[in-house]
Amino acid sequence: MSRDRSLSVGERVDRARRLGLTFARVYLRIRSHRFMARRLRPSDMAERWQALHRTNAEEIYDVAVELQGLILKGCQFASARADILPKPYQQVLGLLQDRVPPHDFPVVRELVEEELGRPLEEAFQSFSERPIAAASLAQVHGATLLDGTQVAVKVQYPEIAGLVRGDLKNLRALFRAVGWLERDFDLMPLVDELGANMPRELDFVNEAANAERIASFFEDRDDVVVPRIHHELTTRRLLVMERMHGLKISRTAALGEAGVDLKAVMTTLIEVFAEMMLIRGFFHGDPHPGNLLVEPDTGRLVLLDFGLAKELPEQFREQVMHFAAALLQGDVDAMGEALIVLGFETRDGRQESLHEIAALMLRVAKEIREQRRVDPETVAKLREEIPDRIRENPIVRIPHHLVLVGRVLALLTGLNAGLGAKVDFLKLLMPFVLGVPPARGGER
Ligand SMILES: Nc1ncnc2c1ncn2[C@@H]1O[C@H](COP(=O)(O)OP(=O)(O)O)[C@@H](O)[C@H]1O
Ligand SMILES: [Mg+2]
Repeated sequence: MSRDRSLSVGERVDRARRLGLTFARVYLRIRSHRFMARRLRPSDMAERWQALHRTNAEEIYDVAVELQGLILKGCQFASARADILPKPYQQVLGLLQDRVPPHDFPVVRELVEEELGRPLEEAFQSFSERPIAAASLAQVHGATLLDGTQVAVKVQYPEIAGLVRGDLKNLRALFRAVGWLERDFDLMPLVDELGANMPRELDFVNEAANAERIASFFEDRDDVVVPRIHHELTTRRLLVMERMHGLKISRTAALGEAGVDLKAVMTTLIEVFAEMMLIRGFFHGDPHPGNLLVEPDTGRLVLLDFGLAKELPEQFREQVMHFAAALLQGDVDAMGEALIVLGFETRDGRQESLHEIAALMLRVAKEIREQRRVDPETVAKLREEIPDRIRENPIVRIPHHLVLVGRVLALLTGLNAGLGAKVDFLKLLMPFVLGVPPARGGER
């Protein structure tokens, strides 16, 4: 097992090639199916598409498991987009959220002992060799402390820091190349934000602090919990926390059978994220289903994985709030102004274009509100209706502080589609925007 070292140039080229070949194969398969659908029109085309999606998803899964690092993280994100992605991708790539093939136990033992500076048995009464789950940066084992407390131990993959550094270099090179070909869109804010966040995500001492800060926001709510941290056993690569018990939020059938009210869970989720983003200016940046559990007996939402958290500078938080207020009031001018002040830019650089985009956003919000859901059909329909003027002048620059806001909104929309909970997003946001957060949980 390679210890924390950067990838050589050769290794980086190898990763890029492996990824490029997969991408090319997936793309060519889609092209050939499109051709078949248009020219040959076989009667079983729908099944053929499903079979193709499955083949593609399996190939992407294999390459993500083999290469790990940022590639795996990217696939986790994609897998959570139930609003736009065909089912087979959601099912196969969804395994990457918490079911990555784990490292062998000797690797885990070695890391734990290195981090604690003593034999595993001196810190834990018992330590299960089989992990509870394994994801992109770490695997998590159940264990018992010397005093009998049940804990979850998050063990960072030893080679992950090197992989991520190499991937960031590759991504920068790729985005620079794309920037030359496609001069319009400024991708650099995306890479800059990623580059700034990744090292923090690999520091579990930082993750522990994030978890406690966010836990403090919700102390008086009884519908959401964050695992408590055991600082004395936590290091940069080892995080020991309260053991939580729950089902992944995307397991809707099992949760429904257990009598959990999914609409109430979704309401909690939206309120909690509205409070973090709009009121506190500090939020969990990675709400994919692997990081959200629901306790079947209490229906409480469990937030996990605080590695990727974001502090919004105060003036950004205020402008995001202005934007949300304008959206709720249906004030297109004020929405456009907020987009301009936030630093969005369109291709033609004209401020009027942002006002047009604001008008489109308002229409989309209304549509979603009426339908009470976002599913692939609604998204496709809305996409077709985009006016040509906006198609020709899309947004070409997103302020880097808002990259994670966009990511969170995308993940929450995906979750809402997956849960089929049909909550009224906008109505839930109203009290936060007015500055009077709703009475806390409990009475629901
Ligand atoms: N405190 C906990 N109690 C129970 N299971 C946990 C706990 N923390 C994490 N897990 C499980 O481990 C998985 C990986 O942990 P996570 O913190 O999300 O790691 P990563 O940063 O690699 O995504 C989670 O998806 C969840 O299934
Ligand atoms: Mg995770």
